[in-house]
Amino acid sequence: MLYDEALRGQKETIVSDDGSLTLYSKEFNESYHSPKDGALRESLNKHVIPAFSLDRGKPSLRILDICYGLGYNTLATLHYIQSQNLDVKVEIFSPEFDEALVQSLKDFAYPAEFEPLRPIIEALSTNFSYEDEQFKITILIGDARKTIPQLLTAPSSLLTEKIDIVYQDAFSPKVNPLLWTREWFADIRALCSDDAVLTTYSTAAATRMGLYENGFELHYYDAPNTRRSLIASPKKIESLEWIDMELKKVRNPGAKSLRDRDIELSE
Ligand SMILES: C[S@@+](CC[C@H](N)C(=O)[O-])C[C@H]1O[C@@H](n2cnc3c(N)ncnc32)[C@H](O)[C@@H]1O
Repeated sequence: MLYDEALRGQKETIVSDDGSLTLYSKEFNESYHSPKDGALRESLNKHVIPAFSLDRGKPSLRILDICYGLGYNTLATLHYIQSQNLDVKVEIFSPEFDEALVQSLKDFAYPAEFEPLRPIIEALSTNFSYEDEQFKITILIGDARKTIPQLLTAPSSLLTEKIDIVYQDAFSPKVNPLLWTREWFADIRALCSDDAVLTTYSTAAATRMGLYENGFELHYYDAPNTRRSLIASPKKIESLEWIDMELKKVRNPGAKSLRDRDIELSE
């Protein structure tokens, strides 16, 4: 095992560099956010702002938030929409297998920006879902490798239209490789619309290969006070710095995507 299930639930609180609180997971031996980038700043700068600045003016958006964790990406999305007065309806699906963590979040000391979202935080923590006229949020409790493909196949298909935005924000490929493999990205691609945007903090060669092998074009994204991140989309995005993956493959012929079978064999 790459991570230690016996330590599930064991976490420590960290004050990140922008003053917002995050946790350190003893199970995965990793923090939920980059302490240097700051939890709220990372969420806004690496995920929410890039995704919404590439918005194609759709009146409604479907978002996959991988994985819920402390819910910063989901909550920062709602905060951003409200603070920018965006006239958009949003449906968010977010897998998470740590049910006890989600249940504990009604007592988590979130940054002041999330204070207006308190009734939503409480509903999500208690019922794993929330709905009003503008926002619909479903936390999919269970293993993301099972719940994500089920979004398309379940008889009561939860997903009626394809996904517009994916926040790929799992623990790192080193400690949670099953959420970064070629097969995982194939499941994600199957859910995405042809102009979907996937945001991720991982710029590793294996991450890029896994996305590229599933038909994603790749781009770098730079935001102030945050490390460089990646934006993937089935379509090339002219306004961003495109990564020529064919050239990268010539220069680094040993670069490989992570594969389910290699990880399963090593466990
Ligand atoms: C880096 S944290 C996510 C941080 C989150 N985006 C936030 O803003 O707080 C990764 C989360 O993935 C969850 N996780 C890890 N493997 C999973 C899996 N196979 N299925 C569902 N959740 C998983 C962990 O319990 C953890 O809460």
